[in-house]
Amino acid sequence: MRTILVTGGAGFIGSHLVRYLLQQPGVRVVNLDALTYAGELQRLSELEGEPRYVFVHGRIEDEELVAQVCRRYEVEGIINCAAQTHVDRSILRADAFVETNVRGTYALLQVARQQRLRRFLQLSTDEVYGEASEGFRYAEDSPLQPSSPYAATKAAADHLVSAFVRTYGVPAFIVRSCNVYGPYQFPEKLIPMSICNALCDEPIPLYGDGLQRREWLYVEDLCRALWLLYERAEPGRVYNVSSQEERSNLEVVQAILQLLGKPQELIRPVPDRPGHDRRYAMESQRVAALGWRAEVPFAEGLQRTVRWYIEHRPWWERLRAAEYAQYRRQWYEGYLHSGQR
Ligand code: TYD
Repeated sequence: MRTILVTGGAGFIGSHLVRYLLQQPGVRVVNLDALTYAGELQRLSELEGEPRYVFVHGRIEDEELVAQVCRRYEVEGIINCAAQTHVDRSILRADAFVETNVRGTYALLQVARQQRLRRFLQLSTDEVYGEASEGFRYAEDSPLQPSSPYAATKAAADHLVSAFVRTYGVPAFIVRSCNVYGPYQFPEKLIPMSICNALCDEPIPLYGDGLQRREWLYVEDLCRALWLLYERAEPGRVYNVSSQEERSNLEVVQAILQLLGKPQELIRPVPDRPGHDRRYAMESQRVAALGWRAEVPFAEGLQRTVRWYIEHRPWWERLRAAEYAQYRRQWYEGYLHSGQR
């Protein structure tokens, strides 16, 4: 039996990955999660009683705890999905981003170094490259020019990973994904926020002209890439994972409203997010050379996602009524309109 530590396994991507890993024979998963506002064990409720799954409540910054967990369960490698990820929240305050994304990654690397773990996969983002000009796609060796406080903390974490590879020979590698979407994503992100607002007949705030472009990857396609790379990546390397399904935010929101049969008038232009990157785009030749490509076309993934949110209304209504309600007021009714940005 091989034991893999997935951090942030109660989050959106982490929970899909935990489920995916447990489909692999001979794999046991330990899920270490701090259960912040975005972490939710209900995403994995069907795993109760699964003998190859262990949940540990705790923070990745807690090096002592991580060391204990790795020893106790004889962990062979770590997949670090634990992070603060919402750009807008990092614009309000980035303390939690520095703590979890930078200090947390450092603590995990320390344990990987001390216990000579066999693998360390750092999940990162295309946002570390900064804005991509029209017609250009970032390759894995492109320089890092993060724009948001969130992206800066992810870039710092990537640098720490590279330093631990070079200095201590930790067998770590970095996976940079484009924007991910699918079931169970927290309703603050563009796609679920638009679906949930539309289902409640509430306006959908679109920053600036709405012509910013992102590449969108269905979460199951990302999980396939992560497992393939966990098994096959070369330590010290960076791997971009991108769908090349590039859409403007306006196109995305229009498609959602159309799928739901809701009026396009729900789109509400609001002031732009400061430092907003207009476009992200990546080449992902290294993972393609290992046989991966995105399999779920955007139209199909979006349809599946919309259907899931229609069928799981109690799940997201509960989240929207909790901490998120206060954040929404602070960000959309306060900060964006305050003129004091
Ligand atoms: P998001 O899902 O927050 O991911 P990221 O900023 O990391 O790419 O946002 C995706 C795009 O949607 C981004 O260009 C910002 C835009 N957006 C809006 O226009 N309105 C919103 O309320 C949100 C949350 C995002």
